Amino acid sequence: MKKILVTGGAGFIGSNLVKKICISNEVVIIDDLSMGRKKNINNLPNVTFYEKSVLDRHFMEDILIQENFDCIYHLAAIASVADSIERPSETHEVNFDSTLFILETLRKMENRNLKRLIFSSSAAVYGDDKELPKKENSPIKPLSPYAIDKFSSEKYTLMYNDLYGVPTSSVRFFNVYGPNQNPSSPYSGVMSILVDRYVKKIKNESSEFNLFGDGEQSRDFIYVDDVVKALEIIAYSNDSKGKVYNVGTGNETTINDLISIISRYLNEEIKINKLEERSGDIKKSVADISNLRELGFEVDYTIDNGLKSYLKFLD
Ligand code: UD1
Repeated sequence: MKKILVTGGAGFIGSNLVKKICISNEVVIIDDLSMGRKKNINNLPNVTFYEKSVLDRHFMEDILIQENFDCIYHLAAIASVADSIERPSETHEVNFDSTLFILETLRKMENRNLKRLIFSSSAAVYGDDKELPKKENSPIKPLSPYAIDKFSSEKYTLMYNDLYGVPTSSVRFFNVYGPNQNPSSPYSGVMSILVDRYVKKIKNESSEFNLFGDGEQSRDFIYVDDVVKALEIIAYSNDSKGKVYNVGTGNETTINDLISIISRYLNEEIKINKLEERSGDIKKSVADISNLRELGFEVDYTIDNGLKSYLKFLD
């Protein structure tokens, strides 16, 4: 059994990761429940939960030193681009300062057990650059404080590997979907909003979906179980040390396609309100995942299978 820390472990990706790794590891979750939810992690074995902010330096330092983790997944973040534009300084503290503090604490630790720290970055770092598919060495064009903080954090994370021997990797998530993603925030991912509207339609509740633009924009949607698999592969591979990886599927799906797949699967139609394209929206996004594949990763979920699995979970 290994000791693993998951910051943001009650959130969407974190709770799905913890559910898998807690079977054979001792897991500590740190989450202030600002975005995460306690019910996402109820009744999981081998889990200790602390309702704490990653900005609580005394707490963070104590737990990192005392527990001397084998592996750390740093997923805690204010995962909203819009929020970062409204509150750049506060989001910077969570999305950047917390990372640097964890890295510094680890650097100074003697007899460190750590085998790997993984930092969760985002495809947002590529901005609206037109080069497709996005490779890890494609141009970086951050368009928001969120994207700058993610890029700086991922770079610092890798630099601590190279300069100080703290073993690290970074990942750039594309559009992740699946159970435990909260559809109620205005900044939620399109998949959770769309599925929520279909579920409402089935319950005879108001179910209109606001489609920004013509629906022909595409994204690389990756099911959260595949993300969890990728995280574990990266954490346990020697070759991934000091490197950044795209975490996507390599396939793009348009919003129109999503709507028809869900409609077909549920045999339901919802009302679509066509609105102006969202300002700053990217037309197309898809990941090149050859580097991840070289570590042995294969995508398990096509968009069809992933959606089926997600919708079954909502039954
Ligand atoms: C994601 C981020 C976004 C960020 C971008 C940078 C989330 C939820 N969004 O956006 O803040 O700027 O990465 O890479 O993390 N859409 C609708 N109706 C809706 C919601 C979305 O039509 O109710 C459309 C959007 O206009 C967009 C597409 O669906 O074209 C996907 O939207 P979203 O899920 O927000 O993902 P990104 O655009 O990739």
